[in-house]
Amino acid sequence: MATADGVDVDAQTNYDEAAVKPYTLPDPLRTAEGRGVTSPELWVKVRRPELLRLFETNVYGRTPTPPKPIAVAYEMVSEDREALGGKAVRREVSVRFGDGADAPRMEVLLYLPKDAAEGRRVPAFLGLNFEGNHAVSRDPGVRLSTAWMRADHGPGIVDHKATEAARGTVADRWCAERVVERGYALATVYYGDLDPDFDDGFHNGVHPLFYRPGQTKPAPDQWGAIGAWAWGLSRTLDYLGTVPEIDSAKVAVMGHSRLGKAALWAGAQDTRFALVVSNNSGEGGASLSRRNFGEDVAHLNKSFPHWFCDNYKPYSGREDKLPVDQHELIALIAPRPVLISSAEDDKWADPRGEFLAGQAADPVYRLLGTDGLLLHGWPSPAEDSLSKGTIGYRYRPGKHDVLPSDWEAFLNFADAHLKK
Ligand code: GCU
Repeated sequence: MATADGVDVDAQTNYDEAAVKPYTLPDPLRTAEGRGVTSPELWVKVRRPELLRLFETNVYGRTPTPPKPIAVAYEMVSEDREALGGKAVRREVSVRFGDGADAPRMEVLLYLPKDAAEGRRVPAFLGLNFEGNHAVSRDPGVRLSTAWMRADHGPGIVDHKATEAARGTVADRWCAERVVERGYALATVYYGDLDPDFDDGFHNGVHPLFYRPGQTKPAPDQWGAIGAWAWGLSRTLDYLGTVPEIDSAKVAVMGHSRLGKAALWAGAQDTRFALVVSNNSGEGGASLSRRNFGEDVAHLNKSFPHWFCDNYKPYSGREDKLPVDQHELIALIAPRPVLISSAEDDKWADPRGEFLAGQAADPVYRLLGTDGLLLHGWPSPAEDSLSKGTIGYRYRPGKHDVLPSDWEAFLNFADAHLKK
């Protein structure tokens, strides 16, 4: 099997449940010193900050403090009050980080339900996209991204640049009409605006804004690309907080695959996100690292050396030495609702490992007074699968992708938790 990045991994990858080696997960409710976390207060004051630090130092890298505050400017570049066949208001807003003509920018594409208003604010879904904002809907008014694109991210990319042929190519992955019809705003940003997804030694994207004099790349415990993508999600949330029609206390962050890893990391760090959806996020996302099934840490470090921090590299083949595992990333979202969405044919992402991570995060949700995961065992895949409870789990047939049926589940989960 070749993965999305073209690496042939069959030879070394385990897909046999019987060959999963025994492992012991770190206890989310025990501090590094071995103290039991027996109250919500101990979780909030001691264990949560400790886990965040461990993920920063060993996995995603910490977001550095910039040498000087980064000036952020918003510029509205388009508005269409009759978008999506008259169902939505569309805005495009260019967000500039820092001063000068070369300052990095991220372009926000926003769809609001037509009847959203300052007195009738709506919840929102926010997610990064792989293909550029112009690919997210068939809306001819959306500007074509001029940013660098990976050749493997959809049709219509020529010499790493989007062409008109790329317009609307992933409309079914975003279901913008349906999202606004269900009463939510949809906001999205092309992930490459924050950090183009290739290993360039961190010269492009937002990383250089954070360098100290003389610094040319992040330190071993500082952020990689996933950290920058998560940072961008938080900056987009800042922007959504200025949109009068949006209820910024009800913003769900959603991400697929590597961007699911980024959504989880954003939701873990930034408690302003009201809800998190991880779709097929797999290794380094929702699935357990210690479970040797599908992708492993060595593959992540080898194929995508720019995603995680340099301190993650020594854990290749030594997952049992990690001071954390991914159930604790999910636990960092507690008590906020999190939906873990897996696909049957997405064995590379280890659907069962994603379920087990949700299950192992459950005690933290319970400690904080929610109902956690309301499933006792790994369910069989079903088209309309969605479990109740604050840790939702979805397991559907089919491949690694975001489908319209996934959006129905995301919206149903958000209705249950944000609209009650
Ligand atoms: C690769 C990678 C995964 C990642 C996926 C994606 O398959 O190995 O970790 O989730 O790409 O982002 O599509």
